[in-house]
Amino acid sequence: MEDRLITGEKLAEDKFDLSIRPETLDEYIGQTELKENLNIFMKAAMIREEPLDHVLLYGPPGLGKTTLAYIIANEMGGNIKTASGPSIEKSGDLAAILSTLEPGDVLFIDEIHRVPRFIEEILYPAMEDFMLDIIIGSDSTTRNIRLDLPPFTLVGATTRAGDLTGPLRDRFGIVSKLNYYTVSELTDIVKRTSRVLDCGIDDKAAVELATRSRGTPRIANRLFKRVRDYALVMGNGYIDLEITKIALDRLKVDKLGLDDTDYNLLKSIIEKFNGGPVGIESIAASIGEEITTIEDVYEPYLLQNGLLKRTPRGRIVTDKAYDHLNIKKTE
Ligand SMILES: Nc1ncnc2c1ncn2[C@@H]1O[C@H](COP(=O)(O)OP(=O)(O)OP(=O)(O)O)[C@@H](O)[C@H]1O
Ligand SMILES: [Mg+2]
Repeated sequence: MEDRLITGEKLAEDKFDLSIRPETLDEYIGQTELKENLNIFMKAAMIREEPLDHVLLYGPPGLGKTTLAYIIANEMGGNIKTASGPSIEKSGDLAAILSTLEPGDVLFIDEIHRVPRFIEEILYPAMEDFMLDIIIGSDSTTRNIRLDLPPFTLVGATTRAGDLTGPLRDRFGIVSKLNYYTVSELTDIVKRTSRVLDCGIDDKAAVELATRSRGTPRIANRLFKRVRDYALVMGNGYIDLEITKIALDRLKVDKLGLDDTDYNLLKSIIEKFNGGPVGIESIAASIGEEITTIEDVYEPYLLQNGLLKRTPRGRIVTDKAYDHLNIKKTE
C-alpha cells in the first residue's frame, strides 16, 4: 500500500513531530473525560505516594496514545522507558527493560497486543506484585530466579483492543478509549501547532484544516506543515483560508478529508453492489485489498463520519455519501 497523506498511521515525516507534542495534561487538547479521570487518578496516587495504576490506552492511530504515555510519566515525575510489542521477543528482552526501572517510572509498551503470549505471562506477576520470575540458563543448569521490581506504572497502547487477551486486559486498573477529535478541538490543536512552529494562521484557515483532518491530530499537524510550504512559496508565509484551500485541493484532500482511496471504496460499493448491503469479503475482493486493511485503515473514518454504515447484512453507503460524491441514488 502506498503512503497516504491522510493516513492516521505514523509516516517517516512525522518523526520530527516531537517539538509539537504537548508535554503536560493541560496542554493536551480534547479527550476531556479521559483527561479529567486521569487527572484525579494521578493526584490520588501522588497523595498516597503510590504509583499510578496500570493504564491501557486504545484507539485509532494518531489520536495521542504515545503522547499521553509521556505526559503521564512527566506529570508523575518519573522517567519513561519504552518498548513495543513486536520488539520483545525473548524473556531476556523484557527482563532487561524491567531491570532498569526505578520507583515511579512508567514502562510504555506500544502495540501491546503484539507481545508474545509467553512474555505476557511474565508480565502478570510484574504488574500485580512487582515481581519478575524468570528462568535462566539452559538444559541441566536452568534456574528459576525471582527479582523484586520497584513500584512502576505500565502504560500499554494498542489500536486493536480486541486482540488483547482477557487476562492481560484485566490487569489494567485504568482502561481508556481515545476518540476521534471534534473540529473545534482540532482547530485548537492546529492553532497550538501554529504557535509552536511560529507560523501564523487565521481562524478560518485553522477551521478548514481541522475539518479536513479526519478527527486525527497527527493528520492535522501533517497537513499544517504541507500548507505552511504553500504559504511560504505562494504567499508571504502566513496561512490564510485561500492558500489553505488551494493547498489541500492540490494535495487531493477534499472538504471532508477524503482522498482517492476513500472515493474508490465508496464508489465501488455504489457501482458494483448498488450501495450495499455488501459483505466485507466482497468489498475486499472487488477493490483488491485485505479485509484487515479495509477494517483497520479505510473504514473507521468513513464509519465515524456517517458515510458508511455497518449492518448485520453488510456495509451500506449512506445518503450523506451519495450527496457528498454527487451521485444520484438508484432505487
Ligand atoms: N490531545 C492532543 N493535543 C495536541 N496534540 C496532540 C494531541 N494528541 C496527539 N497530538 C499530536 O498528534 C501526534 C500523534 O500523536 P501520538 O503519536 O501520540 O499518536 P498515537 O495514538 O500514539 O498513534 P499510534 O497509534 O500510531 O502510535 C503527536 O505528535 C502530537 O503532536
Ligand atoms: Mg503511538
